[in-house]
Amino acid sequence: MKIATLILPVIAISEASQVPITGTTPLRTEAAKKNIIIGSGAINPSYLNDPEFAAVLSREFNSLSPENEGKWTFLNPSKGLYNWTSLDRLVEFAENNDMVVKGHGLISGCCNPDYILNETDPTALRASLLDHFKAFMLRYDGSRVDRWDVVTEVIKTQGGGLDPNFFYRILGPGYIADAFRLARIASPKAKLFINENLVETLPGKRQELYDLVSGLVAEEVPIDGVALQMHITEVAPIPGVLTDMVKSYNALGLEVAIAEMDVHTLNTTAQTDIYAAVMNEALDANITDISFWGFTDKHLYTWIPGAKPLMFDEEYKPKGAYYATHAALKQCD
Ligand code: XIL
Repeated sequence: MKIATLILPVIAISEASQVPITGTTPLRTEAAKKNIIIGSGAINPSYLNDPEFAAVLSREFNSLSPENEGKWTFLNPSKGLYNWTSLDRLVEFAENNDMVVKGHGLISGCCNPDYILNETDPTALRASLLDHFKAFMLRYDGSRVDRWDVVTEVIKTQGGGLDPNFFYRILGPGYIADAFRLARIASPKAKLFINENLVETLPGKRQELYDLVSGLVAEEVPIDGVALQMHITEVAPIPGVLTDMVKSYNALGLEVAIAEMDVHTLNTTAQTDIYAAVMNEALDANITDISFWGFTDKHLYTWIPGAKPLMFDEEYKPKGAYYATHAALKQCD
């Protein structure tokens, strides 16, 4: 009995001391002073088994979102069957650590189960969408999930029209408005976002997204904001582009969030500079909800072989990108 009481605290201290320190305040401390949500997406709940991962996540961030666990086929592989265990764990972790959870995966072009992909009747598909949204959104309503990506990547990657995904093929281009209306029925109070990639880089796609979203607003579709993925490859967006986007969406009454930022390059100096430039511009433009697509290069997602796009290395040591983010948060008004 006595031995156990003596040994347990020693184990706890040695685990905690394995996490490298940053020598700064945590990001979330600086963010909280300014009411900013600073988060990490791409959190596969199984990563929480690693105490260092869990310690750094909860120390630095006040928001998180799942990676693939909310995508339809992983959450709801057949009609009526839901795998809640891993998402419940994520939400519980957030509750215990005073973090917001951002819902990700309601509709995406990928990751849809056969029982959905075999549907050809638009009315039945809309009914399945509502069932799915109600199950997913209601389970976490009133808890820490107060914002959702309703649709993700609806425009073709390089621009030039809507992506002809499964929902588009069955429901037509109106599937986007349908999805927002159904999400609003499922959750009357949550913030509803359209999530899109590459608009900060491709002017034509940027205009297409604006035209689409302003059309939704004109039709009184219940949309609250635009979530920019901001997966950046090699080069920062042209200065001013982000600010202009924020102004134009704010003028429509919408919020702009950064949903999945990371920087893919082999040049670590450039990476730090890009984190600094984007964070400074985003904060100057009054973006108050910023997430990265992960935080440690131990669990990264990249298309550039060898790139390490995140702000902590594989051993949880802070990189230049961390300090650039920290400085931007500390300096902003
Ligand atoms: C990615 C995941 O990180 C990968 O594990 C998966 O293989 C593919 O999807 N934009 C999104 C995310 O909205 O859902 C994507 O996540 C990354 C790009």
